[in-house]
Amino acid sequence: MKNPAAIGQPLDRVDGPLKVSGAATYAAEHQLDHAPLVGWIVEATIPAGRIKALDTGAAEKSAGVVAVLTHNNSPSQVPFGEPDDEGRFTQSRAMLGSDRVRYHGFPVALVIADTLANARHAAGLVEVSYDPAEAVTTTGSDADEVPDELDGGLDPDVTRGDFEQAYSESEVQLDVTYTTPNQASAAMEPHATIAEYDGNELWVYTSVQLIGPAVEVLANTLKLDPDKVRVLSPYIGGGFGSKLGLHNEAILACLGAMHLERPVKVVQHRRHVFHNAPHRGNSVQRIRLGASGDGKLKAIGHESYMPRARGYAFAEPTGASARTTYHADALLSRHRVKTVDMSLIDSCRAPGHSIGSLAFESAIDEMAYRCDMDPVAFRLVNMPDREPASGQPFSSHDLAECLREGAAKFGWDQRDPTPRSQERGRQLVGYGVASTIRMNILVKSTTRIRLSDDGSLIAWANMTDIGTGTYTILTQIAADILGLPAGKVSIELGDSAYPASCGSGGSFGAGSSGSALRDACMKLREKLVDIARKQESLKDADFDGASFEGGNLVLGDKKVPLAELVRQSGHDYLEVDGKVEPGEDHEKYSQHSYGAQFAEVTVDRDTGEVRVRRMLGVFSAGRILNRKTARSQLLGGMVWGISYALLEELMLDERCGAFVNRDFAEYHLAVNRDIPEVEIHFREQPDTHSNPLGSKGIGELSISGAGAAVANAIYHATGVRVRDFPITLDKLL
Ligand code: MOS
Repeated sequence: MKNPAAIGQPLDRVDGPLKVSGAATYAAEHQLDHAPLVGWIVEATIPAGRIKALDTGAAEKSAGVVAVLTHNNSPSQVPFGEPDDEGRFTQSRAMLGSDRVRYHGFPVALVIADTLANARHAAGLVEVSYDPAEAVTTTGSDADEVPDELDGGLDPDVTRGDFEQAYSESEVQLDVTYTTPNQASAAMEPHATIAEYDGNELWVYTSVQLIGPAVEVLANTLKLDPDKVRVLSPYIGGGFGSKLGLHNEAILACLGAMHLERPVKVVQHRRHVFHNAPHRGNSVQRIRLGASGDGKLKAIGHESYMPRARGYAFAEPTGASARTTYHADALLSRHRVKTVDMSLIDSCRAPGHSIGSLAFESAIDEMAYRCDMDPVAFRLVNMPDREPASGQPFSSHDLAECLREGAAKFGWDQRDPTPRSQERGRQLVGYGVASTIRMNILVKSTTRIRLSDDGSLIAWANMTDIGTGTYTILTQIAADILGLPAGKVSIELGDSAYPASCGSGGSFGAGSSGSALRDACMKLREKLVDIARKQESLKDADFDGASFEGGNLVLGDKKVPLAELVRQSGHDYLEVDGKVEPGEDHEKYSQHSYGAQFAEVTVDRDTGEVRVRRMLGVFSAGRILNRKTARSQLLGGMVWGISYALLEELMLDERCGAFVNRDFAEYHLAVNRDIPEVEIHFREQPDTHSNPLGSKGIGELSISGAGAAVANAIYHATGVRVRDFPITLDKLL
């Protein structure tokens, strides 16, 4: 019988029972010997300037208050942003380091008390006055700074061929500008940290996607030896990029713990998260497309304008979709930024492709209509045979098949091609499609495994599980390779004391940490076979057909329990290290995962209300490691795409650089009522150039394209093309 824990099987989450019973300790839930003190962040109310005066007297006298930390009494730190040649996740994140206010919501004090209620009450008694400075809080197409590089190390500008000429000579032209708003990552678990300091070592229980950089940023900011910093993040309630690095509450909790030498907990209130954790910046995307009369793209132009937070290097590659999806004779992709006095702007699920596809796949749809072609057929005639931007060969390319299979499964041929031609009572009905593409990355990772003499296996890595299922798929990889039941495998993650891994981000977590684990398990197999070969009783056994099943090494008709092999080794356990790093085979190819997404919407002709009626996606992401967790990832991205198309928007008060809808009552997210039947299909095609497992990234795949499929369906339903996201009903009437 096939191992129910084998790679690909829809194994239930191994950490599921812990999570639903409350036994999984999220950042704020770690139990220390003594209950930690509680800190509350006092936020600046201006976007730029200096603190003129701070009166903490009343707060200090308030019930239960132990300390009010400000720039006047906080421990010494390395200035914010230094050293400037470090990456953004490791350079100093100094808080309360000076009287300077960096943005609206920037912490100006931390009130530390015995209880949350006392800290929060006293925070309201802190009096702050400011010397405001000129602030830049908005940006649009006036952004004119060239970023050093884009996220992922991409060049801000890529040109292939002569765009202006190819565009001007095109028979069919399109020149449109799309805008997307500021958006929040909105992870369910807010950013939270408990810090403990004994005068020598700093222990930090937090919620962070990348453990290695978290140790470095604390050491760099707080002037500590990295060996004295321990970071633990075993369970994470969502991150989506907003927890790639550590954020304000983490530094503040550490400052409090170091100041008092007592444990301090700081949990960002939901309102804090909108300014004290990063968000995605708004974008203006001008897209110019030129095609010949038969619908072949001649010129693709994508010019992006976005804000960049002062002192923070992140710039989002919104041109990613324009650079990778279709062939054209000439390509122009350009990114410009404007430095703003705003809270940090950083990665949010599929930086580049998610909001890039929202605009680009809508523009492609417009071009299909302009060429009088079916939107699926238009995409199919423009498939690239090499990556358009780099000219590299694709490791595999499956976009056309995703589109064909998706169209067939969705019933695309039932669609009347004419916009605003399908009606169901008062409802206008539309079908939309979008291509989906997302880069596939492999990141150096290591792990250590130990097989004990009771036949159980344990694996350690400083990898994280942000809710995506890492514990589960790593369990499956070990169980599959070593022929163990899932119950014999334990995966230990989220601790800086464990071997360095990729962490979670960029859709690289499963493939990278999984490949390191695969390496360790393959080496352990060799070791076990070597031990067996030395056994006199096995000297005639069939070693050529050796396999691992049911906790045994199987040699023809002989079964040797792995536990026995450990005992025969003369040791209590066998330990093996594994690693993976991108090699030549990985790097000479352009690597992507693919998909095609289809949506059916109805739009009320009188009210403009949009309902998504069904969605269908066909995805090709190499070998699927667990069909259940993979489906959940894709489903989550599709839900988010619907949310981007219809709902999400941070409202900015430009005068003070503040977001005004800082809660989930007013920052609208798609909820259960907004989500229809969603169908997900896999085209499973292991890609051996990707990594030794043959898997590819899926975490950020479906959000790239889902929103555009909805937007394109709305156009088909109504004949109205909204180029300013989200598509709220007022824009359709
Ligand atoms: Mo991701 S946006 O790299 O967590």
